[in-house]
Formats: sequence, C-alpha cells, structure tokens
Amino acid sequence: MRFPTLLSAASALLAAPAALAAPASEISSQNDILSPDFVPLYKRENLCNLKAPPQLCTPNKSVTVEETAQRAYQFYRAFVVDGDPRTMFSLIDNVYEQHNPGYRSGPQAIWSLFCSGRKIGTEQSTDWCFDATTNMSWARYSVVDRWRWVDGCVHEHWDQGERFPSKDKCFKLPTTTP
Ligand SMILES: *[C@@H]1O[C@H](CO)[C@@H](O)[C@H](O)[C@H]1NC(C)=O
Ligand SMILES: *[C@@H]1O[C@H](CO)[C@@H](O)[C@H](O)[C@H]1NC(C)=O
Repeated sequence: MRFPTLLSAASALLAAPAALAAPASEISSQNDILSPDFVPLYKRENLCNLKAPPQLCTPNKSVTVEETAQRAYQFYRAFVVDGDPRTMFSLIDNVYEQHNPGYRSGPQAIWSLFCSGRKIGTEQSTDWCFDATTNMSWARYSVVDRWRWVDGCVHEHWDQGERFPSKDKCFKLPTTTP
C-alpha cells in the first residue's frame, strides 16, 4: 500500500469535532468532507504512540459475503476518508500477505504508514468496490489498491498495476444506495 502525497487540504479543518458513527441512513448524503453536513463514520486518531495496532481482525468462518461487503466499505472509509487506524487495522488479519515488494507481509510492516490517521481523500474524489464473486475489494485514490478478504478479514494486498473494476461488478450496499 503506497501512501499518497495527495492529502485533502480540508482534512485539517475537519479533524476536531468528536466524530460519532453516522447512522446508516446518513451514509449516502453526508459522505463528502467538504459538505457542512459531513459526519465521519469513524473517529480520526493518531495512534503512533503505540508500537503495534491495538487490535487485529480475528478470522471468523461465519462472516457472510454481505457482511464482508459491509466491512470492505468500513475498511475503505477508515483508510481513505476518515483516517482511522484503529478501525482499519481491526479489519486486517495477522497474515496480511503483501505483494508490494517494498514491504514485508503482516500488519506490523505497514503500521507506521497509517498510525497517524491521515486522511487521503473524500468519497467524491475516491472510490471503493467489493466483488462478491471473488471476495476482493478495491480502493481508488491516487493509486488503486486491491485486497482479498478471507473469513471476514483483509488477508492479502496488491497495489501495482491494479485496475478498478467496472461498477456493475461492485456489491451494492443497502445503506449506500441512494
Ligand atoms: C462470527 O460471525 C458471525 C456472523 O457475523 C457472528 O454471529 C458471530 O458472533 C461471530 N463469532 C465471533 C466469535 O465473533
Ligand atoms: C467468499 O467468502 C465467503 C465467506 O465469506 C465464502 O463462503 C466464499 O466461498 C468465498 N468465495 C470465494 C470465491 O473465495
């Protein structure tokens, strides 16, 4: 996962308010951090005082594809839009097989990139997708990342030469359908 140099200028302005989780019904209309109605799903935190992620994902074979799609959206929000390393790493398992040759596998190898809770972009300037036929998810910002989900957790990652899927491949979450 490459950390982009593109950071939203607005993010600094929006870091302050106590961000409570938005009700599901608000997700679609209040997802742009430039909007006065913006409600972050997750609270931005700087956790770089911690040497390791506070919590990782425990694989669970009972997690359904629908639940995995919801988690993929939560992961994208925490990683790209909200800058919430606590939630982001709570969705990564302890394997995190890394296909970027610049990093070792395992969540610990990328913790320092994300612990500060930097935001990368708005929902309007970025995109996400979960393909229920492959259990893969994508995030598009200045690059395209791809992850494979296993037993409800992010398990594997690619970020070189990835192409964002066509929208008809992407799972439609009930809460994000306008
Ligand atoms: C595993 O996932 C299922 C489905 O979401 C859930 O009902 C169950 O509580 C989970 N088990 C654990 C130990 O978290
Ligand atoms: C996707 O994950 C579900 C469990 O969440 C599993 O039942 C299914 O076999 C997986 N599909 C693929 C293609 O790996």
